[in-house]
Amino acid sequence: MYVAQPIEWTDGGVVMLDQRRLPAEEISYTYTDYREVAEAIREMVIRGAPAIGVAAAMGVALGVQKSAAKTIEELKEEFEVISEALAKTRPTAVDLFWALARMKARFRELTRSHLDLAGIRLALIREAEEIHAEKKATDEAIGRFGAEFMPKEGQVMTQCNAGALATAGIGTALGVIRVAYEQGRKLHVLVPETRPYLQGARLTAWELHRGGIPLTVITDNMVGHFLKAGKVGAIVTGADRIAANGDTANKIGTYQMAVLAKENNVPFYIAAPISTFDLSISTGEQIPIEERTAAEVTHIQGVRIAPAGVAAAHPAFDVTPYRYIAAIFTERGVAKAPYTESLARLAGAVPAKAAG
Ligand code: MRU
Repeated sequence: MYVAQPIEWTDGGVVMLDQRRLPAEEISYTYTDYREVAEAIREMVIRGAPAIGVAAAMGVALGVQKSAAKTIEELKEEFEVISEALAKTRPTAVDLFWALARMKARFRELTRSHLDLAGIRLALIREAEEIHAEKKATDEAIGRFGAEFMPKEGQVMTQCNAGALATAGIGTALGVIRVAYEQGRKLHVLVPETRPYLQGARLTAWELHRGGIPLTVITDNMVGHFLKAGKVGAIVTGADRIAANGDTANKIGTYQMAVLAKENNVPFYIAAPISTFDLSISTGEQIPIEERTAAEVTHIQGVRIAPAGVAAAHPAFDVTPYRYIAAIFTERGVAKAPYTESLARLAGAVPAKAAG
């Protein structure tokens, strides 16, 4: 089945598919400067928590590769500048900071080894490629664990895009749906368009359509209507950051979907890698919510839809309290309430055997 490739490390630089142009055009850029990679993350050429992490890791590798530093001391200073520029791009998805921390730990290890500058540069490229490869394996394990929870047939719902475009693997939420579909479950996906950035209508619809999985695009204000109709067997979404108690930040609109799911007895699941856990914060109240430009609300693809001069708000994420979440699918198994215990156990655990 077709799997989109949002990012690739090549000898010529970091190649990214421009997700702002999908589905109308499939255009890729090759970035040769880490500042361009930072800009691409900020401007949503690439988006989705795990994919942002992969991009940040490749951005670090690119910055170090292109650095003019002549000594390890000079490179250490430049490494900090590179990391900081990438860290300042988007605040909510913790995968970004996870990937930067991992690259930093590897860099520290390398600077204490016998390697020269060329060796360090090469080893950091390998580390970024390794992170990319791990995302693919992680998504597949999440998919296998989560697929068991999907209905044998009928409607499922998702939010935003938590597919291959968002992870650089097969996707988290869409990975679960994809594996379930490949197992023979006859699913039909309801895809809310996900205003204001339309990741649902543009990206999830594109991925599912390409993969041959039946779908229906709906507007965000139809979610309650369809849940009340009693035909949705499950909801599965991705996550940008999961606090120690299970509170989960995801694309704006996820919270109201979870509340409506509870009201209508539809199980609401999260699919996310362990790298999306932030066990340093006890609740979702501490998750920083990105505020994006009002122009993304007042305009659709450059066309103004609200009167000039009016204010518009654009919190890009909301937090769903843990009590609305029936289970969290990870690459190491399925977490259920009480999350404070199950998430800590999974985070520290030896990988469990995935079903199937
Ligand atoms: O603003 P975006 O498009 O980066 O937001 C993406 C989401 O909210 C996804 O659901 C989340 O990052 C999980 S991606 C597997």
